[in-house]
Amino acid sequence: DVPVLCIDGPTASGKGTLADQVAQRLGYAVLDSGALYRATALAAQCAGVSLQDEERLASLAATLPLHFDGGRCFLDDEDVTDALRAEAVGQGASTVAALPKVRQALHQLQLSFRRVPGLVADGRDMGTAIFPDSELKVFLTASAAKRAERRHKQLMEKGFSANITGLLRDLEERDARDKNRSASPLKPAQDARLLDNSDLDIEASVNQVLTWWSE
Ligand code: CDP
Repeated sequence: DVPVLCIDGPTASGKGTLADQVAQRLGYAVLDSGALYRATALAAQCAGVSLQDEERLASLAATLPLHFDGGRCFLDDEDVTDALRAEAVGQGASTVAALPKVRQALHQLQLSFRRVPGLVADGRDMGTAIFPDSELKVFLTASAAKRAERRHKQLMEKGFSANITGLLRDLEERDARDKNRSASPLKPAQDARLLDNSDLDIEASVNQVLTWWSE
C-alpha cells in the first residue's frame, strides 16, 4: 500500500505550502484536493451552471477535464492555475463542496492520486473521509488574523487586489460553511495531530511534520 500523509485544516492555514514542501522533502506526489472543488466551481461558472444545481454540478465534477502538469493546472487545454486562486472561485468551491453528490463524484479521482513512493494529501477531509487509514493525519490551524494576513500576501503576489478586513470576513464565513455542512464537515480526525502554526515559520512546520512522519 502507498503511504499517505494527510494535511487538513481551514482556509489559508498554510496547508498548500506545507504539503508541497513536505512532499518535496520526501519525494512524494501531492494532492491539492481544494483545486478539484475550485475547478468544479470554475467549470460551472464557465458553463453557466447554477451553484445550487446538485445534479449538473456532480456530473461536471465527475467528468472534469482537469490535469496537472509542471506545477500548472489545466481545464481542457486552458491554464487555470491563477484563475483557480481567485477569492470568488474559493467561495464557489465552498458552496459546491457542501453538496454530497459533488463530494461523491470527486472521491475516486482523489484516490487515484496515490502513487509510489507516497502521497501528501491536502484538504478538509483527507484524514476523515478520503484516506481514513493514512499513517499520519495533521490538522493545521492558525489564528484568523494570521490567516487573513497570509491570504492577503498570497493574493497580492498573484496580482489580485484585496483588503484584509474583507478577507477576514470572507474566511470566517467560509470556515463556518465548511464546519457546519452535513457532508464531511471540516474537523480533525480522531487520531489527528494538531499543529497551530500561528507563530511557526514554514521550516519549523515542515520539520514538525517530518518528525511525526518518522516516528
Ligand atoms: O486555499 P483554501 O484553503 O482557501 O481553499 P482550498 O483548499 O482550495 O479549498 C476551497 C474550498 O473547497 C474549501 O473552502 C472547502 O469548502 C472545499 N474543500 C472541501 O470541501 N474538501 C476538500 N478536501 C478540499 C476543499
